[in-house]
Amino acid sequence: MADTVATVGRDRETELLQAALDGGTHVVLEGPPGTGKSTLLRGVAHSRSIGFHFVEGNAELTPARLVGHFDPARVLADGYVEEIFVDGPLVSALREGGLLYIEELNRVPEETLNVLITVMSEGELHVPRLGRIAAEPGFRMVAAMNPYDAVGTARISAALHDRTCRIAMGYQSAADETQIVAGRAPVTPDGWREKAVDLVRRTREHKDLRTGSSVRGAIDLARVTVSLAAARDRAVDDWRVGLDAATVALSGRIKVIESARRTPEEVIRELYEAVFGREPSESDPSENSGDDDASGGARARPARAAG
Ligand SMILES: Nc1ncnc2c1ncn2[C@@H]1O[C@H](COP(=O)(O)OP(=O)(O)OP(=O)(O)O)[C@@H](O)[C@H]1O
Ligand SMILES: [Mg+2]
Repeated sequence: MADTVATVGRDRETELLQAALDGGTHVVLEGPPGTGKSTLLRGVAHSRSIGFHFVEGNAELTPARLVGHFDPARVLADGYVEEIFVDGPLVSALREGGLLYIEELNRVPEETLNVLITVMSEGELHVPRLGRIAAEPGFRMVAAMNPYDAVGTARISAALHDRTCRIAMGYQSAADETQIVAGRAPVTPDGWREKAVDLVRRTREHKDLRTGSSVRGAIDLARVTVSLAAARDRAVDDWRVGLDAATVALSGRIKVIESARRTPEEVIRELYEAVFGREPSESDPSENSGDDDASGGARARPARAAG
């Protein structure tokens, strides 16, 4: 599991999530990738100092993985006794009165979702040969899902929605995204970070793009730029360094609408020029912020920020 990073902004969502959990409800956080659902939840779980059980939602999340199983090596000798039951994350959260956090809820198989629905309805779980496990006070389920994920979104049944509260997470503000990049990537010159975030935000609105990049693209853009500038011994805000880094950081993240007949690289260059300007001509060094004299101390600093 990733480390806990301080949550930037999201005061309103934090308040709503705390209130929903205090009220004893289960919650679904819904929003596109990279909007900080996991970050928010880790922050809230941390502040409540309760047990936190993390589960990745995917096709392999069978009921047995979620609930737990009898240790097969010991069943022959000992039989189905309680001591050899290996608690899965759901049973651990129920016993502790902790938080069960499920990523990518929409990818969880139907039969596993049904186990969750039963637990939410009855506040307890029946495990064959083990018996009844009651939810200790404090047990909550919080799930995150991406409503635009092509996988399984439609399957999330009305029964599940009817048993959960929902907090919608949109993209962070530009100011928050800039601060997030500052916290997750090495130091970049003032003004450059804002532009990098602007570039990434424009991918979400470009007419030729079906999918834009989340703040993860901006974080990687800053990381690659700083490393590439150091490798080339150029300034961090060198025009060519930034374009190459943007292409590497963003071209796989954006999805071009097929009928647009353009490559991701072309769209990135167009957006890059819109934000950072046209390529400065070699003959006019004053235009090139990457030139020695104009760099204003913006040389690459390879030291990395934590995380
Ligand atoms: N509000 C925030 N404060 C601090 N960091 C953030 C915030 N939002 C996003 N991030 C950073 O952006 C990245 C993506 O955030 P996170 O993993 O929380 O998103 P997510 O909504 O859970 O994404 P996914 O749907 O893909 O699971 C992480 O590196 C995280 O540190
Ligand atoms: Mg997440």
